[in-house]
Amino acid sequence: MSYLKWSDEYSVKVKEIDEQHKTLIKMINTLHQALISNKGREAQKTIIIEMVHYANDHFVTEERYMQSFNFPGYQSHKIEHEQFTLKALDLKERVEGVSFVLTMEILHFLKEWLQNHILGTDMKYSRHFIESGLNLNGEPPAGFP
Ligand code: FEO
Repeated sequence: MSYLKWSDEYSVKVKEIDEQHKTLIKMINTLHQALISNKGREAQKTIIIEMVHYANDHFVTEERYMQSFNFPGYQSHKIEHEQFTLKALDLKERVEGVSFVLTMEILHFLKEWLQNHILGTDMKYSRHFIESGLNLNGEPPAGFP
């Protein structure tokens, strides 16, 4: 059974963003698997670094949508992304050090943050995007950057 499972309640109705959230969920599950199966530190380090980079790319995508659709909550949403990025960079720095030990607390933090952020913060732009022209297939309007 997955540590964190995608379900439709996580859908923000934007195809590209839903796919990215699914990938982030998959990465957390891979990291969980690496922890419980005692995979080596190098394997854990590779997953964490990849996840930190992917999260950054994901934030850039979301922020592009929010700006293009003139989402009024853009600034406060961006601040949440920046706060997470600082923590993620700190984690990346620690994982590159020799004494890093991956713990369930770290995994729990990543899982909780992603769940709460998608269901709380990300969900706020969903209705605004649809009202602003995102079609029902989750595709942006023609001419979207
Ligand atoms: Fe899906 Fe705002 O991160």
